[in-house]
Amino acid sequence: MLHDPNRVYVFDTTLRDGEQVPGCQLTTPEKIDIARELEILGVDIIEAGFPVSSPGDFMSVVEISKAVKEPTVCALTRANKMDIDVAVESLKYAKRPRIHTGIGSSDMHIKHKFNSTREEILERAVEAVKYAKKSVEDIEFYAEDAGRADVVYLAQMVEAVIAAGATVVNIPDTNGYCLPDQYGAKIKYLKENVKNIDKAIISVHCHNDLGLATANSIAGLQNGARQIEGTINGIGERAGNTAIEEVVMILKTHATLGLHTNINSRNFYEMSRMISSQMRMPVQPNKAIVGGNAFAHSSGIHQDGFLKMRENYEIIRPEDVGFPSASIVLTARSGRHALKFHLERLGHKLDKDELYDAYKRFLTLADVKLDINDDDLQQLMAYKLVKN
Ligand code: KIV
Ligand code: ZN
Repeated sequence: MLHDPNRVYVFDTTLRDGEQVPGCQLTTPEKIDIARELEILGVDIIEAGFPVSSPGDFMSVVEISKAVKEPTVCALTRANKMDIDVAVESLKYAKRPRIHTGIGSSDMHIKHKFNSTREEILERAVEAVKYAKKSVEDIEFYAEDAGRADVVYLAQMVEAVIAAGATVVNIPDTNGYCLPDQYGAKIKYLKENVKNIDKAIISVHCHNDLGLATANSIAGLQNGARQIEGTINGIGERAGNTAIEEVVMILKTHATLGLHTNINSRNFYEMSRMISSQMRMPVQPNKAIVGGNAFAHSSGIHQDGFLKMRENYEIIRPEDVGFPSASIVLTARSGRHALKFHLERLGHKLDKDELYDAYKRFLTLADVKLDINDDDLQQLMAYKLVKN
């Protein structure tokens, strides 16, 4: 069933897991706009919502199903018939519908969330998949808290749900608990020990509680997973989900991994700013790939190296992620080379002595003014003209 063994499917859950963040709720029209942009970005699956949770979420899944053509539209459910019925109804206009159903798989969840047993939970998982399969062909099963689940039991569960009709098996590190080698080993174990694993795609869904969501997702892909779940800007409950832009750019930057996606990475910057403004969630300046400082060089040593050859300090071209351009920021830590670069850009060609003089005046100013802009530089040069 897998066509290209090196193709990684991108499952965006910004509108479901991402939207669960307090203060980030969206209206249906806002979700439709975002879904259309996600389609342009090239995501393979859009998780549009959890339809049983509210009439608004239900309507969003209905309207997104009508609005997008290419991506699969997915609706989340718990492992029960009512959730599944409502999700099936919400997906009736989707060209490619998917039900995402599942249940806890760790002993912690089995005992303290469901007050149940491994056997009973396994039965409920299989029943849910079989029931959903009667209405929708594409069924993704999530084994919640798989990061902390006993791997032998997890393998048993995965095998049973695939036999029941699951096309994708999601192995979430729900609490962001795993180390990359542990998570990778878990995926490897499933790949090697689940008899029917070739009948489904393994999906990675990692949370960022220890700052390891991206690293864990990559470890999963290196060990045989071929779908990655995440959000734009890594938005999500608590410390967030895997940032899709990070995983995609890692795969592009490290071509030796031999994996690729269908994402148009040049749309990342615009997509990131759209999510940030619609969800009222600023992007931290040092955020990888899309943060305001991601391509800004400010220390003298780096600026000098960058100006000699950008690859000295640039592993991704800003234009490859739609970033306006790399920038050489002028601060009191900048060197002469950076000042010269900016003055030349503004039309001031200086000889060695003039540059020395201008640099001295620049440092005096930069010590008191944090952000030196073009106007400041023009004034710096005007002062020189008056003095002469
Ligand atoms: O983190 C998680 O386990 C989830 C599931 C509902 C897929 O978001
Ligand atoms: Zn999640």
